Amino acid sequence: MAGQFQAPKGVPDYFPPRSNSFLAVQNAIGHAATLAGYGYVELPVFEDVNLFVRGIGESTDVVSKEMYVFEDRGGRTLALRPEGTAGVARLVIEHGLDKGQLPVKLWYQGPFFRAERPQQGRYRQLQQVGIEAIGAPDPALDVEVISVADDAFRSLGLRNFNLMLTSLGCANCRPEYKEKLIAYLEKLDLDEETKTRGKLNPLRVLDDKRPEVQKLLDKAPLMINELCDACANYHREVEDLLEATDVKFTPAPKLVRGLDYYTRTTFEFDHPGLGAQSGIGGGGRYDGLMSSLGGNDLSGIGFGIGTDRTLMACEAENLIVGEKSLIDVFIVPIGDRAHQLAVSLLQQIRAANLRADMAYGDRGLKGAMKAADKSGAQIAVVIGDEEVSNSRVQIKNLGDSSQVQVALGDMVAHLIQVIRQTEQS
Ligand code: HAM
Repeated sequence: MAGQFQAPKGVPDYFPPRSNSFLAVQNAIGHAATLAGYGYVELPVFEDVNLFVRGIGESTDVVSKEMYVFEDRGGRTLALRPEGTAGVARLVIEHGLDKGQLPVKLWYQGPFFRAERPQQGRYRQLQQVGIEAIGAPDPALDVEVISVADDAFRSLGLRNFNLMLTSLGCANCRPEYKEKLIAYLEKLDLDEETKTRGKLNPLRVLDDKRPEVQKLLDKAPLMINELCDACANYHREVEDLLEATDVKFTPAPKLVRGLDYYTRTTFEFDHPGLGAQSGIGGGGRYDGLMSSLGGNDLSGIGFGIGTDRTLMACEAENLIVGEKSLIDVFIVPIGDRAHQLAVSLLQQIRAANLRADMAYGDRGLKGAMKAADKSGAQIAVVIGDEEVSNSRVQIKNLGDSSQVQVALGDMVAHLIQVIRQTEQS
């Protein structure tokens, strides 16, 4: 029966067993960040709307069309966070984290909000795990950030993803390039909407997916060919280091990101198994962001990996990610005394770090055994009145149906042994 309420449009729910895989993906990315020395930050889910307007850029779709903006009871205008980089920069400035050791390396995870048109893989509440490294303009750091993403994907078993890489230049070379591109676009026979977009944000026109527009853009000037010497050298070093660390990439001179803060190294990971929304992660340098938010003039680089889409990529590659079952041991108590005993046995088993559950309610042996099977547990511990009197339990292996009786005092050791054996086999 359908209930009265549904999740808001474009907002996915995660529940078992798929939520296990979701958590495993999130943990794998977080683990890769932790291995590289990134510390965890828990960011606010909403911030002053101007942080995003200033940080991400007023003309971006994310800010101009997709933010959830609201007024709180004190008349402050707030927005649900559409992304994490601006929030991290704000946090670093507010708490003076940049006054200590540099770079400041932080990671975060959780939901972000964009009022996009929902479709497969494009949500209004999307999940990301991100990292940011602030305060060191060093190509080795760019390569570290890219490698953490690459390591995270590989640790999940993913193989069929691509890394697209380019440089978007800096405050010295980009303005000149932009002028060149605007002049080029003005000469083209583009529709009015695209022309307007070209005036607001000419780089975004390069990303137009329509083949007829791409044809017109064939000879468009490209940032990568117009970099100043400093940016060109920097980019060469990034590419050389990536080659040395065996991270494969494809030069993508027309790569454009939907956020305005990017400078120099800019990248995106995509997965061909996902259809139209193929971006599983993206990021880059943002060397002007800190100062534009009133902080010290420090460089920064980071990525945001889409947790939802990374999970979809794992599914596209038929990878089993995370535990399939929630439970190792399921207790089947028959009768009141067994029921009471089961409660304390559960505690003992869980204290040994095994996942344990029991048949709650009055189900009878048949119903309780069915519940044990359904639980996905490897082992059922069956206790009846007789077992309670003898201080013994029946241990049934639900895989091969073999059964042994063990003394209550030996139960936990026995369970650990059986679980270990199955893990190894
Ligand atoms: P972004 O490219 O906007 O970058 O988002 C990063 C990733 O989040 C995307 O590659 C995609 O996997 C996922 N994502 C974005 N929008 C959606 C959506 N509507 N539904 C599902 N998944 C989505 C950023 O947010 C930057 N803050 C990344 C960054 C960090 N750059 C530097 N540091």
